Amino acid sequence: MSIRLVRVNSSHAQARFEALSDVRVSKWVFIDLPVSEAKTKQWCETVGERSSRIDFCFEVEGKAAGFAGLVNINQTSGTCELYIFLHPSFFSQGLGSKFLYYLLAYGKLELNLRKISLFVTGDNDKAISFYERNGFTTEGVLRRHSWFRGEYRDRIIMSIFTDALSTDAEPFYQENL
Ligand SMILES: CC(C)(COP(=O)(O)OP(=O)(O)OC[C@H]1O[C@@H](n2cnc3c(N)ncnc32)[C@H](O)[C@@H]1OP(=O)(O)O)[C@@H](O)C(=O)NCCC(=O)NCCS
Repeated sequence: MSIRLVRVNSSHAQARFEALSDVRVSKWVFIDLPVSEAKTKQWCETVGERSSRIDFCFEVEGKAAGFAGLVNINQTSGTCELYIFLHPSFFSQGLGSKFLYYLLAYGKLELNLRKISLFVTGDNDKAISFYERNGFTTEGVLRRHSWFRGEYRDRIIMSIFTDALSTDAEPFYQENL
């Protein structure tokens, strides 16, 4: 199976719009509703110009299967925040774990980041166990912190130190970029 990390560009706009328009994704991802096709297109066209973040589309056999990024990159501290979502037709096949690994490997090998964090909504049990299975640990809970989909929600902060990752540079650079 060929899996590639491709920087987000205008060719990904339709797939990103479709994924974000699905309630199984929008229920958990901090995106303004209703999702706008025009804004998604504009975002895909311009996001590559921003220096404090890097956004990828994961292409499986040439199809856009999911999106993920490293944002708020701080080179002094070696930190950033991560987000990830898949198109629901690619859920539960082990692809999320693969994509997460590639993203973490990119953060460690290419950006020399030290610690990668993320925020997850307190009731997103699937994502929390997904992150735990992939080496993240909880650092704290911001209680009733964010107004999201009609309620104040807990936000859990989870992190991973990249020195704990076993990443082999050679296959990573040869196979995935
Ligand atoms: C969270 C998310 C990225 C996880 O992606 P995923 O591909 O479903 O996750 P995994 O790759 O770990 O797979 C998990 C499931 O696949 C199964 N699985 C894991 N490896 C597998 C493999 N090699 N083959 C087949 N199935 C596998 C697991 O048993 C698990 O099953 P479950 O979905 O019934 O619990 C995805 O569910 C998603 O995009 N959710 C919506 C957005 C979201 O919540 N994002 C996080 C916001 S913080």
